[in-house]
Parts: sequence; C-alpha cells; structure tokens
Amino acid sequence: MFKSMLILGIETSCDETAASVVQDGEKILSNVILSQLVHQKYGGVVPELASREHIKSLVPVTQKALDDAKITLDDIDGIAVTHGPGLVGSLLMGLTFAKSVAFSKNKLLIGVNHLEGHLFSNFLEHEKFSPPFICLIISGGHTLLVYVKDKGQYELLGQTLDDAAGEAFDKVASLLNLGYPGGPLLDKTAQAGDRNFVKFPRGMLKPAKSRSACGGEDNFNFSFSGLKTAVALYVQKLSESEKQKHLADICASFQEAVVDVLVGKSIKAADEKNCKRIAMAGGVACNSRLRERLKDRASVLGIDIFYPSPLLCTDNAAMIAAVGDFRLSKGEKSEYNLKAVPYLKL
Ligand code: KG4
Ligand code: ZN
Repeated sequence: MFKSMLILGIETSCDETAASVVQDGEKILSNVILSQLVHQKYGGVVPELASREHIKSLVPVTQKALDDAKITLDDIDGIAVTHGPGLVGSLLMGLTFAKSVAFSKNKLLIGVNHLEGHLFSNFLEHEKFSPPFICLIISGGHTLLVYVKDKGQYELLGQTLDDAAGEAFDKVASLLNLGYPGGPLLDKTAQAGDRNFVKFPRGMLKPAKSRSACGGEDNFNFSFSGLKTAVALYVQKLSESEKQKHLADICASFQEAVVDVLVGKSIKAADEKNCKRIAMAGGVACNSRLRERLKDRASVLGIDIFYPSPLLCTDNAAMIAAVGDFRLSKGEKSEYNLKAVPYLKL
C-alpha cells in the first residue's frame, strides 16, 4: 500500500523563522512564516538579533506548523533544514533545532541548499511544471541565472558580482527614505512614475541592437552596485523638494534599469539553451514591473513564464521541505555532523 511521506521543513537562513509540513513533496499542509520586525529600525538585518529571534520563535513556529497540518512530530517521516547559504548564526539556530528534534524523535535528517529551495517553490506552485527551464533566482541575498536540466541537475550560467537584486532595491529604497524592506515599497511608488525620467546605467547588459557598443558585458553575470551608486549620486544633487517631487520618477527609472538587465539576460539564456520556459524565484520575483516586462518579451518568443505566489517567492520552509522530500526519496540523508555553510553553492 502507498504510504504518503510527510516532511517537516525548517528555514532560518536570514530573518524569517519558518516551518512547514509538506506531503509527498507537493502538497503544502502548513506554511508558517514569522518575519522578524526587530530589524526595521536599523534599516537592514542585524545578524546577532536575527539569531536571538530565531531561538525565541523556533519552537512556537514549528508547533504551529504541526498544529495547522493536524499532525504531531510522531507522524513526520523526515526533517529538512536549510544549512546554507545564509547568515551563519541564523543557520546554526535552525540546524541545531532540527538536529535535536530528529535525534530525539529518531527521524531522518536532510540538509537543504536554500537556493535549491527557491527553485523548488515553482514545483510547489505549478502542478504540471517540470524541467528543463531557465531559473532566475532573485532575492535579498542572491542573484543567479541557472539552467535546470532536471531536478538536482543545475548549470550555473551567471550570478551577481556584487549586490544582489533585492539588496539594490533595499539600498535605493533606503536612500530615498521609503522604509524597509524597500523592494515592495519601491515597486509600489514606481507605479506612478516616469520610467524614462533618468537613464540609469544597465550594468553588464550589452545593448541588444549594437553588440559592439561599449558599456556592457555579453555574459550572464550581473552587477548592481554601479546602478546603486548612480542613483545615490543623482539624488545627492537634488534639493529635498525636487527629491520629493520626483520620487516616483526616480523609483520607476531605477526599477526599469534593474528590470532591463534581468529580462535581457533571462531571455538570452533561454535563447542560448533553446529553452521555452523561464521560472523566477525569490522575493524580487514579486516585482510587478519585472513580471509584466518578462511576460511581454517572452510571449513574442513563445516562451512561458512561471513564478510562485508571493508567499512562496519570499523565504519559506515549504520549499525546503519539498527539496527534502526529493532528496530523501533518492535515498540521501544527512548525518548529525551536518554543518552550516554560509557560502554554500548551488
Ligand atoms: O527571498 P527573500 O524573502 O529573501 C532572501 O532570500 O533574501 O527576498 C527578499 C528580497 C528583499 O530584498 C525585498 O526587498 C525583495 O526581495 N522584494 C522585492 C519585492 N518584494 C520583495 N523587490 C522588488 N519588488 C518587489 N515587489
Ligand atoms: Zn531566500
């Protein structure tokens, strides 16, 4: 008789304490996410505070995930936990907790790469979605373009050389005093703005029509720190009233520069790999202009675009449980000496 597999996922790589129960790698029975508010007044994540918040929240968040799924720890088949990449203190909290629970309840333990988790959020969201596809992973900490040949088979095409896309959104939002986390606020403010108000640089994007023109790189890497500096220098020259008057225009112009690069490189990757599917993952995949532009460009080329719903775009433990199910089903498992790896690669 077929017995379903229940995996408890634990995610604490940054400033979200999350736990989730997923059945057979595809059905989310619960998905509890606690976003730490303590960082707001600092305008960014304070690692030490993040670790302390995780300690406080891990037990109640996990208990709620079990309660929402209407099960107890005894019903669980395995525990999947993020062991990298991320803030080492934060990772250690989830990892130590997951190991303790697995040991005391004699359950299978599997360490999961957070980036593979983001990628798997698309499998959770879209029932019939399958490889091969190009995956654009864009979050507060990462910007990666990956060719997914199959589940578990990844070819890294490019990544950011400096700031992550979400980090650029957050930093520009901060210098415009929009609040934290800035990505969603900047997205909203940009909706009323003129995207052509300022022509900010498109980092590492070679202009499509003139391949020989300078000012860009013809590869799949990204760079957003120059753009961030360009916005900072532009804003510095404005008076406070000019800044306020053109806030939406500056947001829209910045956002358009980021979106141009992300869309240009994703489409080029799909073309190079002769792939008709592009999936996005990570918090920046929520960006309204990015979704719109990518869909527009892709539809002309017969490419389908996929992205998860907002709750699965940002950090969550359901995506970690889904990867855990995949890996445990293949017979993999982790030992109790599993380490937190802050710079773990995909
Ligand atoms: O995936 P995520 O929750 O965390 C990391 O793994 O980093 O992504 C959070 C990032 C933040 O930088 C946030 O500003 C950004 O995603 N973000 C957005 C939007 N929603 C979230 N950036 C641009 N537009 C949005 N609508
Ligand atoms: Zn993430």
